[in-house]
Amino acid sequence: SRSIRLAVIGGDYIGPEVTAEAVKVLQAVAPSYDTTLETTDYDLGANRYLATGEVLPDKVLAELRDHDAILLGAVGGRPGDPNLPPGILERGLLLRIRFEFDHYVNLRPSKLFPGVPSPLAGEPEIDFVVVREGTEGLYVGNGGVVRKDTPHELATEISINTAHGVDRVVRDAFRRAQARRGKLTLVHKTNVLVHAGGLWSRTVDRVSQEFPDVTVDYLHVDAATIFMVTQPDRFDVIVTDNLFGDIITDLAAAVTGGIGLAASGNVNPDGTAPSMFEPVHGSAPDIAGTGKADPTAAILSAALLLDHLGLADAARRVEDTVHADLAERTAGTTRTTAEIGDAIASRVAT
Ligand code: NAD
Ligand code: IPM
Ligand code: MN
Repeated sequence: SRSIRLAVIGGDYIGPEVTAEAVKVLQAVAPSYDTTLETTDYDLGANRYLATGEVLPDKVLAELRDHDAILLGAVGGRPGDPNLPPGILERGLLLRIRFEFDHYVNLRPSKLFPGVPSPLAGEPEIDFVVVREGTEGLYVGNGGVVRKDTPHELATEISINTAHGVDRVVRDAFRRAQARRGKLTLVHKTNVLVHAGGLWSRTVDRVSQEFPDVTVDYLHVDAATIFMVTQPDRFDVIVTDNLFGDIITDLAAAVTGGIGLAASGNVNPDGTAPSMFEPVHGSAPDIAGTGKADPTAAILSAALLLDHLGLADAARRVEDTVHADLAERTAGTTRTTAEIGDAIASRVAT
């Protein structure tokens, strides 16, 4: 029997609510695959920060490293909360883990599941994956402010794109396209961001020589948002930078049934540190404590986690169960966070 050591960071607001359901499902599915799951809960997020000033102590980071994978809910407070300045948790916890553990593939699948109502006309087929770069771009914090609070204040935020960083994520995206429908779309803004855009375009052109069976397409990010709504079936694998990937994956979630269904994995494909799985959504302070949070995105993220750990059959079992559950969700009936988790957990166990 195999034992998996899983670090669980529930985080803030609905984060712990949805991760509890994902852990429930993991615990329910594991025994059928001769696997035991040893979970360690890490109490990180707004409460810890407000009580102690700690965001992610080095000692905790070292402990996280010593796990097979990490399951995260969400961190961050209510936008505008004066006690919780923006970025403290997002940068200090979430991005720090992504950067320290070299999560260069931020994997965000988008699929319109049977029975899920699409907001798009004509119920188009939607099944694509966004490979979002996870360690560079505008997220690295390269910049600063001078002459703060004067009329001459100057703020810069410089996007970092390295040949190494772009090459490795582009290669990963080509491999995924090869294993899927053989189409890769680079999304960028090369008509304006000529420096970084040039590196991304040249990298895709160069790597494409090694993948003659993959068709390459390119869209400017603004046009990509049009096609995601008007013609989502044109996408198979999308590769893009950190910020564009963040923005288009919320849109991708919205066109495939909502943010409550969108899963993601922060993957270190080289295995030099544990990968981290989390819903695409945030901590949703507006619905915390009401039982309205949909745990499906967290549960599907747990399926990505199983797949990453080589438990492909268990992952498929969770996904199939979620699909069956989604197909039975009928308009008008509402279930609580725990009711959805219980329903999926009891189904995967049988
Ligand atoms: P959000 O994703 O938390 O919420 C946006 C909207 O989606 C809200 O109306 C919310 O109620 C709804 N929603 C989100 N998850 C849902 C779910 N599972 N079921 C049903 N409805 C759901 O985005 P936001 O409001 O911009 O951010 C809130 C906080 O979360 C901020 O502090 C932000 O920085 C943080 N955040 C964290 C992560 C993360 O930890 N990975 C991701 C995004 C945002
Ligand atoms: C996400 C979130 C994060 C991101 C924030 C909270 C740092 O929006 O996971 O999509 O922008 O990557
Ligand atoms: Mn986001």
